[in-house]
Amino acid sequence: MCGIVGYIGKRSGTKVVLDGLEALEYRGYDSAGIALIDGEKSQVFKEVGRVSGLIKTISKQSDVSAPLVMGHTRWATHGGVTAENAHPQTNNDQTIFVVHNGIIENFSEIRTKLEASGYNFKSQTDTEVIPNLIDFYLKQLDSFEAAFKAALADVRGAYSIVAISVREPNTLYAARLSSPLVIGVGDGEHIVASDPSAIMDHTKKVIYLEDYDVAVVTAEKVQVQNLKDHNRIEPKVELLDFDNEQAVLGDFPNFMLKEIFEAPATIKTATLGRARADTGTVKLGGLETVLRQLKHIERIVIVACGTASYAGLIGEYLIEELAGIPVEVHLASEFKYRDEPFSRSTVLLAISQSGETADTIAAIKKVEDFGVLRLGVVNAVGSTIARMTDAGVYCHAGPERAVASTKAFIAQVTVLALIALHLSDGKHPQFKPLLKELEALPAKAQAVLDSAEDIKKIAEKYANYDSFLYIGRNISFPSALEGALKLKETSYIHAEGCAAGEMKHGTLALIDENFPTFAMATDSPLLEKTYSNIQEIRARGGPVVAIATEGNKAIKELADDVIYIPKCEEELQPILQQVAAQLFAYYIASKLGRNIDRPRNLAKSVTVE
Ligand code: G6P
Repeated sequence: MCGIVGYIGKRSGTKVVLDGLEALEYRGYDSAGIALIDGEKSQVFKEVGRVSGLIKTISKQSDVSAPLVMGHTRWATHGGVTAENAHPQTNNDQTIFVVHNGIIENFSEIRTKLEASGYNFKSQTDTEVIPNLIDFYLKQLDSFEAAFKAALADVRGAYSIVAISVREPNTLYAARLSSPLVIGVGDGEHIVASDPSAIMDHTKKVIYLEDYDVAVVTAEKVQVQNLKDHNRIEPKVELLDFDNEQAVLGDFPNFMLKEIFEAPATIKTATLGRARADTGTVKLGGLETVLRQLKHIERIVIVACGTASYAGLIGEYLIEELAGIPVEVHLASEFKYRDEPFSRSTVLLAISQSGETADTIAAIKKVEDFGVLRLGVVNAVGSTIARMTDAGVYCHAGPERAVASTKAFIAQVTVLALIALHLSDGKHPQFKPLLKELEALPAKAQAVLDSAEDIKKIAEKYANYDSFLYIGRNISFPSALEGALKLKETSYIHAEGCAAGEMKHGTLALIDENFPTFAMATDSPLLEKTYSNIQEIRARGGPVVAIATEGNKAIKELADDVIYIPKCEEELQPILQQVAAQLFAYYIASKLGRNIDRPRNLAKSVTVE
């Protein structure tokens, strides 16, 4: 994680970089820093906490304009949250400045070697070895570029790095390996950043760096060389086809609430031009080039992390039921280290909101030589995963700013339903009913949102419990897992998800009057079995909040509180359940005064293993 922005050009880059850091704050928000170089003069500012603190400090300075500027917003990995550990990190002479996203795995070895040569270290970061290593090589080699590359050749791990030096006030150096970097091409200026959101207010023209690329960037020119094959590459300029508009808060108090309220629009956009109930068709443009291969799939392996993995589990139920293709869902962080039998008839399907999650990228890389088809369900257009997969379907949920994923989950499940319907070739009896349901779903999601005040009242009643159990059966089981994740990441209340039928094998021991349960109890052939599980909880004094289908009166006798959602085909119920569960988690977190958009210890785009 961590956000990086660098500017070189004809105007002052300070504001560009600070604005960019604010746009990238979702990547980490422990501390922030900036380095400015104007001719021989350099300045560094660092603050613990949010970018706004850094902006405040800088606004008190008299001269902070500079044509060469870079900044960083940190998610701590090595070393605590202190100003010393904030980036930019510098060499002993304070002539070279480096910002870094990723982890240098052999930093301790390099540090020992540099200490033996007389270098001192002031931080506990892995990053601090980089400027010193560049300095070390600069004493032996004839150019900064050569020293930068020599340093990169020594480091092991994952990185995106931007380096600047007072000796080279007209050049910015950038490199990437397994962490994203993109260069915005402006008029007499270039902006390097972790993702386009920090660039797009200035230019829509971008160059994406690939693994092992090193870029030498001046105001007028970008030169790229790949360290793996040592070729000079003609940088390919691409045009961004989205803007920052959706990232504006409007009347909402925070992005999480805004994004929950975008559920109806999200479902509409994800299905627009793709699914039509009247003609009975599902058309997924992103899969057109691989249609022939899709006919011969024998197995699908889904890889994802966090919320995306729970969307994947829902996808497993959908694809297996509708298309009859066996599906396995693997947490990407586990998948990459296991020996998995793979044949060419297996398809790898990666799900990712950001398209930059390091573990998911590593999982895709693992199958690179297996000759299997790699598909993506990705939200961020042009992201690493979108570019490294053979084909895929975009979620089109627009930028998601809150760390807790809400609308992206809704879009992922919608897209997975479309893929399942597409793979079913229209043969499953639920094909037409589900197409119709997808059309009705935005209005039904809106109906759930319209009951936000009722959900708020219920949520506030439960805000002071220490633990929560979430239960569900069948396709509502992964929905329970996601509900629990949403509550813990936003409110810091311990919550766990459990298959309702599995409770009796251990989890039930936790239940007493201080341990409430959130039950997914929407209409299903298994509803009576879920009722029995709720009875088991009630018999042990556990309070119960249930999500049920409108019109279900019986549930009132069973649960302490009921959140109703509109009647809906079972396969798509998780979407409506989650709109309700997201609001429930949101209102509890809000009642507890949590930092809604930036929960402690987390980051939105996790680019370290
Ligand atoms: C982080 C985020 C989660 C997200 C997960 C996977 O942990 O906080 O909200 O689900 O990464 O991210 P991705 O971008 O790959 O969906």
